[in-house]
Amino acid sequence: MSRIIVVSNRTPGKGPAAGGLAVALRKTLAEREGFWFGWSGKLVDTPATDVRFEDIDGLSVAQIDLTRDDHHAYYAGFSNSILWPSFHLRLDLATIEAHWYEGYRRVNQQFAHALLPLLKADDIIWVHDYHLIPLASELRNLGARNRIGFYLHIPFPTSDALYAIPHHQELMRDLSRYDLVGMQALRDVAAFTEFAEHQAPATLSGSPLQAIDFGRTEVDAFPIGSDPDAFARLATSPAANKMVKRMELALHGQQLILGVDRLDYSKGLPQRVEAYEKLLANDPRFRRQVHMLQVAPPSRDTIKEYQATSDALDAICGRVMGRFAEPDWQPLTYVKRAYGQPSLAGLYRLARVGLVTPLRDGMNLVAHEYVGAQDPEDPGVLVLSRFAGAAEIFEDAILVNPFDTDETAEALRMALDMPRDERIARWQGLMAAARNHNVEDWSKSFLERLAPASARGTATRDILYLASVA
Ligand code: G6P
Repeated sequence: MSRIIVVSNRTPGKGPAAGGLAVALRKTLAEREGFWFGWSGKLVDTPATDVRFEDIDGLSVAQIDLTRDDHHAYYAGFSNSILWPSFHLRLDLATIEAHWYEGYRRVNQQFAHALLPLLKADDIIWVHDYHLIPLASELRNLGARNRIGFYLHIPFPTSDALYAIPHHQELMRDLSRYDLVGMQALRDVAAFTEFAEHQAPATLSGSPLQAIDFGRTEVDAFPIGSDPDAFARLATSPAANKMVKRMELALHGQQLILGVDRLDYSKGLPQRVEAYEKLLANDPRFRRQVHMLQVAPPSRDTIKEYQATSDALDAICGRVMGRFAEPDWQPLTYVKRAYGQPSLAGLYRLARVGLVTPLRDGMNLVAHEYVGAQDPEDPGVLVLSRFAGAAEIFEDAILVNPFDTDETAEALRMALDMPRDERIARWQGLMAAARNHNVEDWSKSFLERLAPASARGTATRDILYLASVA
């Protein structure tokens, strides 16, 4: 069987706190052989060419260092100040600096140069996320003929947002050099198809662009998931119980509304707190009866838009405290730090409401983990943004428009008032969906589709891109 080479910007670290993706791919790599390739996390002054292999808890990880300048242009610059906001339809938060693209390209070239000598002819390469869109092109330019797949963990943009990205035509051409492109949701495949069918508008000079041929690239939705049964076990583990006990003492019987998100503007945190404020304002019976906990580990905090998001959240949390807190009661707790999976699992299990309201999100695995962690006899309610990829699979959640804080406030009221029978019925539907879309099957189905036609028993591949989007 061919080896699998996984490539991503970040590589898995030591210790048991790994997320579902790392666990699933670790398992795949153990069964199939291969290694994980990516940035070492180290910044150096001169470009490095050496690859260091390290054994990380039985997983073979190959890493390269990047120069400080290249990393800035590639990561904070092109990836997270241009691609991330544009793909999340926040062009107002994009900063465009022309030279970042060169750094982005250079890092992808450096990855390709370092990876190529490590490859065998029949290795299957699986590239992850928006930092590495050009990697297949760069590998193919160096002569690689391997099967190469790409998975986009974030949403694919609508055509207008795509056209606003400098060099979007080259990036789309880069995607056409993959054999398989996986997206989170049908809506993403639809957006891609829209571009592929109509392609770009005329350029400023009026000269026609050469249409991109996606004839060799299959594009389809592969919604990622978690391991909900592992999360269920974790939620009753001693470490989770410790957190549950701590929180029960603090809650004094109040119902917990929980949000867990990286501190990112795509997560809709100020809107979420505003919805909670409206709940307390509209329905005074909830005061002293509920408590909102928002866990928001800082993220990408060298980028000014992230600092502004953090400030906006400070301001609105302060406002809600000032408006509703009493000397012996606080309506909310807001913690800007990360917790390990066991503590989170305990918090999820305790929470009567899992409040997952991103403005736009690839999938959102917090929704999956929240479902996995519930007590089947007395489950909580998932309030979920209809703009998260997860909304395509979690029909039994209360779906909300996160921009409409009145609607989210009403969803919170419904969730808090929901009788146990209905909570159980909805949770059973959610858990069935989470099991059905588990991360192990996700990785298997992607790799099965990426395998050469001979290994799949298919004589020819005549699918261009799948326009099978209802
Ligand atoms: C999202 C992206 C991942 C990224 C993660 C954390 O989930 O899809 O590729 O690794 O955010 O962001 P960071 O910038 O800290 O790697």
